[in-house]
Parts: sequence; structure tokens; C-alpha cells
Amino acid sequence: MNLRNVNCIRSVIIIVTCFGYVQNKRKTKEVYSISDPNSDINLNSIQLISKYGSVPQRHTVVTEDGYLVNVIRMPNKGPAVLFVHGIGDSSDSWLVTGPASSLAYQLSSLGYDVWLYNSRGNKYSKGHVKNLPNVEYWNFGYEEMGTQDLPAVIDYITSINKQQKIYYVGFSQGTTLFFIMCSLKPEYNDKIRQAILLAPVAWLSNTKHPYMGWFAHNNNLIKSFLDSLGIYNIFENNFLQKVIHAKTCREGVPERFFCELEYALSYGINNLTNLNTDRLPVISTHIPAGVSTKTFIHFFQIYLSKRFQRFDFGAERNKMLYSTAQPPEFPISQITAPVHLFVSDSDWVSTVEDVKTLRKMIPNVLSYVEFNKSLDFSHLEFVYGARAKSLINDPVTDIILRDVLYN
Ligand SMILES: *[C@@H]1O[C@H](CO)[C@@H](O)[C@H](O)[C@H]1NC(C)=O
Ligand SMILES: *[C@@H]1O[C@H](CO)[C@@H](O)[C@H](O)[C@H]1NC(C)=O
Repeated sequence: MNLRNVNCIRSVIIIVTCFGYVQNKRKTKEVYSISDPNSDINLNSIQLISKYGSVPQRHTVVTEDGYLVNVIRMPNKGPAVLFVHGIGDSSDSWLVTGPASSLAYQLSSLGYDVWLYNSRGNKYSKGHVKNLPNVEYWNFGYEEMGTQDLPAVIDYITSINKQQKIYYVGFSQGTTLFFIMCSLKPEYNDKIRQAILLAPVAWLSNTKHPYMGWFAHNNNLIKSFLDSLGIYNIFENNFLQKVIHAKTCREGVPERFFCELEYALSYGINNLTNLNTDRLPVISTHIPAGVSTKTFIHFFQIYLSKRFQRFDFGAERNKMLYSTAQPPEFPISQITAPVHLFVSDSDWVSTVEDVKTLRKMIPNVLSYVEFNKSLDFSHLEFVYGARAKSLINDPVTDIILRDVLYN
């Protein structure tokens, strides 16, 4: 082989290598485009999991009251972990930040059997065994999710996985459902190995959300207005909103101002880079996922009454249902399952003050982690934050690993 040929081959190798490098660069930095069907923006939970490596399953669980609840599974032989999302959200919330930043992927890669719940009425869980009219189908809130969906899902998982107990990871409303289940159906405490509760929500007496007061005080008015229009569900995922988020939440574009403004006003995020900023187009296009108006009404009732109480139907019906004019509080001293609480002093929704009330009343708090003001760690960051890996995912993984090792 003469020198010219060698040089020629070397040039070809260099060119091919460079080309590969550029291609790879392109791949790692996805340009999120709404018109690209393979962009993460357009993928649902099943497609996201498939794209990032494991083989997902979709399970339909039928609740006692006939709702069809879909649970997404990343199957494995290890202990089962059930993930329960926040209000108006879905199984997507545990996937959209991508494998490097998501606790669900992290536990799955360690061999845990990961299950992602979808609350009744969200975009993945719209079915019912009967063809109910809207007004009947949407007649549910926290209590039904906590006392119907969760027990059905937990019974289902334990029957498939053949273990007696599960680990539970809940965020925000996902913790409320846990408190409701374990207090109204205390037999389920025994099915929980440990519960990791991120930004726990029971009492809402100190919530600092800027719209909360107005909405709460106009609660009944809003409810009758929506009812009169035949609107029983809100915050559905709609295409226009998706397009706007896909455009405005990208990094390095001037329109990002609107995305920043929205997140600051709605969620109290002062610095958008605190969220997983590169993934924000994917995160923001997957929220919201739909919720019943009754869920919000109950939320506002709890805020106004300063009690963690059951749904308020008005004095007359309350007397029939609960034998008291005022709805009773959830009997949370019944929550005997071992729990870990993660709280932040910069959270508008789950406040340190309200979690203190909770902590005093539940008997089995194994650990309590509080992020101080200087961290500026806001509500959504527990799941979607740039620091979630170090502040949440790694410590939670440690808690579960240690429990598996020593029990
Ligand atoms: C926002 O956060 C980033 C990274 O956490 C930091 O580098 C930046 O200085 C912050 N900006 C402001 C205005 O606080
Ligand atoms: C807040 O928490 C951080 C991180 O844990 C710590 O480094 C810092 O000293 C704390 N600040 C205060 C005022 O407690």
C-alpha cells in the first residue's frame, strides 16, 4: 500500500468520525419540534419508556365503583414501587425529565418493579365499565381516588408481583391520596413497606398560593357556574396550549419570557433554570392531564376550613352521610405505615407549618427532610427540578435500598 492510499484512507476515517460526532451531538441535544412525531414532546408514557430502553406494560385496573384506572409498569423482578403523581398530572410526570433525572428510571435500572399510577379522569384513565353520562362520571374527587383507585391498584400489583407489600412514592396530591387511603381504609397500612412523601399535602392552612384565596372564596360560585355550563372536568391537555409551550419553553429563545412568567405566577418559580431547563419543552407539553372540578372544590374547602376534612356537601347532606353538620376530619392517627416526609420552606403549596401539624399526628414518621429557604426549592422541583437527582432521587433511592438490605 503506498503512502497516498494510506493518507486517503486516513482522511476518510477522519471525515466519517467527524460526521458521526456531529450526528451524535445532534442526537444528545434534541430540537423539540411539535411537528416531529418522534420528539419527546409528542410521546406518551409508553412511548417514552420504550424510547429510553425498557419494555413497558399497560395494566387496566377496575375499581370497585367501576372506573378503569391505567397503570404503566416498567417490569422487573425486584420489590414493587408505586409512583403517584400530583394534581392534574399523570404517569408522564415521572418520565418527562428523562432517564438521568427521573427517580422512576433510576429505581427501574436498579431492578425495582416500577408502577406509575394514573388517577381516574386523567388523559390515560378515562374509562368506566358503564357508559356513564358526564355528570355522573366526573362526580369524584380526592376521596374516591384515595379509597377506590389506590386500594384497587395496590391489590392488583401485589397479586401480579406476588409480594405482600409495596413501596409508595407520592408527590403532592399523591400524598393526599395516601393519607386518605390509610386513614379511611386502615387495613392498607399493612400493604405499605415504606412511603416516601414528597411535598406532602394534608392541611392547607398556610398555603401561600396567590390565587388560592380568591378561588377559595368564590368556590361555590365557580362550581355552580361551571355546572351550569356542563363543565365537570378542567385542565385537559389541549393542542393549542401544547404548541404554545413547545415554542415558548425552549432554551435560548426570546419567547421564553412568557414561559418564565407563567411558571413564576402559577408555581412560584423565581428562576426557571431551577427546573430541568433543557427538558422544559417536554415537561410543559405533558402538563396538565385533566382533573375533575370536584377535586379542586375539595382542595379549596380544606384551605378555607383550615381542617383536613372530608368533602363538604352542605349541612343537610353532611348529617345524612357523616351524622354531623360539619364534615369530620380524616382520622389520620390511623396512618400507621412507615413514612418519610420531604418538605421545602420555599414551597407555596405544601408548607413547613402545615406539615408540622401533620407530623405531630401521624405515629410512624421514620424521617423528615426539610429544605431551607436558601435553597429556593419550589413545589414542582420535587419532580421536575434540576436538583431533584441530588436532593430527592438519590436520598430516596438510599432509603429504599437500606430498607431492602436490612429487612
Ligand atoms: C438561576 O439559577 C442558576 C442555576 O441554578 C444560576 O446560575 C443563576 O445565577 C440564577 N439566576 C438568578 C437570577 O438568580
Ligand atoms: C440551608 O441548607 C444548605 C444545604 O443543606 C446548607 O448548606 C445551609 O447552611 C443551610 N442554611 C441555613 C441558613 O440553615
